Amino acid sequence: MSNNLSKIAVLASGKGSNLDAILTAIKKGVCPVDVRLVLSDLADAGALRIARDAHIPHVLHLDPKTYENRACFDAACADAIESAGCHWVVLAGYMRILSNAFVARFPQRIVNIHPSLLPAFVGGDGVGDALRYGVKITGCTVHLVNEVLDCGPILAQKTVAIHDDDDRYSLLQRMHEAEHQLYPQILADLVQKTLVFNGRTVKITG
Ligand code: GRF
Repeated sequence: MSNNLSKIAVLASGKGSNLDAILTAIKKGVCPVDVRLVLSDLADAGALRIARDAHIPHVLHLDPKTYENRACFDAACADAIESAGCHWVVLAGYMRILSNAFVARFPQRIVNIHPSLLPAFVGGDGVGDALRYGVKITGCTVHLVNEVLDCGPILAQKTVAIHDDDDRYSLLQRMHEAEHQLYPQILADLVQKTLVFNGRTVKITG
């Protein structure tokens, strides 16, 4: 049985392995969230197929090109999220930058997973940037989303070692393993516990 606070919308543009990990954790009984909506800006996103296979109640493709501008597209997405009764907006490989108006509609209720140890390597290629820079340890970060890209308060991080013989593919594999453990754990915390803020420092308590 889910309550309103456990209802989530997942926004994804890619293959959807994080969505899959969340759904697997739900099935195992270790992540008490209720995925009400999966929304993508790309018709062929793997995440949509995963959502349909899992019989998620609302599975939606909205095409940004059919909207007058970004504000209109984001407003349509936000309307869909609210209509589906979702409390949390979970970004899982959603490759669009959210407008301030969208962020303002879900204050401290949008969460993202980023493939680097923020604040290092913000932007679209956290894995490639870490490899090129030559760091020995990277990882993934779950954070709240604010108006500044990849800069919202950090909820949790998990390290991933970079090996001398790593290439993009091998590192991405281990990054995904880390993400697939961390994201469902933190979502479980978010819907069951309380966030306590001190400036941009957040503790998950209770
Ligand atoms: C993940 O690596 C995540 O960190 C980034 O986008 C990727 C999405 O992968 N934001 P998937 O679509 O969940 O497989």
